[in-house]
Amino acid sequence: MKDNISRRPRNSSFPLRTIIVREMRITDWHSIHKMYDSLSEEDKAFFHPGFLGYDNINFAWLIFQVHLLLSCIRPLRKILLKMLPRIVFLPLVAIYQNRIIGFAYIKVKRRMPDRGFCATLSVIVDNIARGTGLASILMESLLRLAHQENIREISLMVLLNNIRAISLYKKYGFNVVGKTIDCYRGKIYQALIMRKYL
Ligand SMILES: CC(C)(COP(=O)(O)OP(=O)(O)OC[C@H]1O[C@@H](n2cnc3c(N)ncnc32)[C@H](O)[C@@H]1OP(=O)(O)O)[C@@H](O)C(=O)NCCC(=O)NCCS
Repeated sequence: MKDNISRRPRNSSFPLRTIIVREMRITDWHSIHKMYDSLSEEDKAFFHPGFLGYDNINFAWLIFQVHLLLSCIRPLRKILLKMLPRIVFLPLVAIYQNRIIGFAYIKVKRRMPDRGFCATLSVIVDNIARGTGLASILMESLLRLAHQENIREISLMVLLNNIRAISLYKKYGFNVVGKTIDCYRGKIYQALIMRKYL
């Protein structure tokens, strides 16, 4: 797929080196939701994990916030990973001029028989920093973190027309393993299931 698409030239004018990529802190919480709410409708169709933004607050959303915030406390996350792995997030943020311009997370799904974990992953980069290599930095940091936390398998869903994300995931060793459909604001989209073993 990557060979058939025309790449934008890399946006080298963006000061990528001044961006800080680190694990999410509790104090980032509001900024992440604000960033999500500012995305275009197309981006939200591509990336709608269901727990971001203030648009759609419901009981499940509240529960996810608790899981996300608890996961920001590293010693607690270690304990949860042992006792209640399916509520654990590994969330990263990218910060530029005190503003969150990227968010990427792994969400543990369950423990595997060999005692590792399987999980899902997603990433979003603000429009101003696209094409700069930021998603690559986030992916590399996230995959390193996944390895440290004994994640052995990552599966994700990506819309069939999300060429940039498909190309990104292929670059990091994800393979297409199936097709599915996704639903966003009443519209049905064709989607791919991609998987990577670590
Ligand atoms: C997908 C997304 C995260 C890429 O972010 P980015 O910072 O622009 O990506 P990078 O500059 O780090 O590029 C990383 C890789 O992504 C792919 N990519 C990025 N822009 C692309 C483009 N315009 N066309 C094709 N592939 C592209 C390439 O594989 C690229 O690797 P390369 O530069 O070595 O060729 C960003 O476009 C985004 O946030 N999209 C909306 C949210 C989304 O779709 N998230 C995924 C949900 S499943």
